[in-house]
Amino acid sequence: MRRPLIAANWKMHMTTAETREYITEFLPLVEGVDDVEIVLAPPFTSLAVAAKFLKGSNVKLAGQNVFWEEKGAYTGEISPLMLKDVECSYVIIGHSERRQYFGETDETVNRKIAAAMAAGLDVIFCIGETLEEREAGRTFEILKRQISGGLRNIKPDGLVIAYEPVWAIGTGKTATPEQAQEAHEFIRKELNSLYGDASEEIRILYGGSVKPENIASLMSQKDVDGGLVGGASLKPDSFSRIVRFKETEGG
Ligand code: PGA
Repeated sequence: MRRPLIAANWKMHMTTAETREYITEFLPLVEGVDDVEIVLAPPFTSLAVAAKFLKGSNVKLAGQNVFWEEKGAYTGEISPLMLKDVECSYVIIGHSERRQYFGETDETVNRKIAAAMAAGLDVIFCIGETLEEREAGRTFEILKRQISGGLRNIKPDGLVIAYEPVWAIGTGKTATPEQAQEAHEFIRKELNSLYGDASEEIRILYGGSVKPENIASLMSQKDVDGGLVGGASLKPDSFSRIVRFKETEGG
């Protein structure tokens, strides 16, 4: 059985003071939740303070990006070791905003995944098609390319996939549970051809306008194993309701 994983991608939000306030409010709201893995991905500047306030809790930390070198003259970059140093368990790699605004490619994403895993970080690897690609009937072709490029020579241990259709991110337009399942099933088949039985252990998260109101129906799909949540993760109350999706199921 795959344990559901719900991750908050704060993107470029939250000062250190806001991070502290958020965590103080959030932890009591998810106290005792152990059947869902909970992950927060604050900006780099908030990781240390988040690590301090999450200590001993049931909430793990993730970086939103990482560079593939261990150290050196790479102004502005953060290494896998640095993320480990501030107690990150996970790192998000290949988010569509990084691909779109910062020139990340399947190849650079692949190097980042390899370096992160070598340092002992678990990876949330993001893939997804744009609206134009979907409308041109190219969704599966794009997903296939992103998977084979991004996962070249990568082992399945510690790997999580996030399917995030670009047209659903921050737009309020969620994929229907059926659209999500269709893509997740395709992704699972691709993973199976790469990893065989081990692919059954890999969690595939859905991301793109996840909210307290739609998480339960998304999670009811066979191949949806969790969510990567942007906008609706910025308030402790709304994110905790997403984490506690099982309690709202069926009303
Ligand atoms: P959203 O973002 O929930 O605001 O659509 C999701 C993401 O980009 O990870």
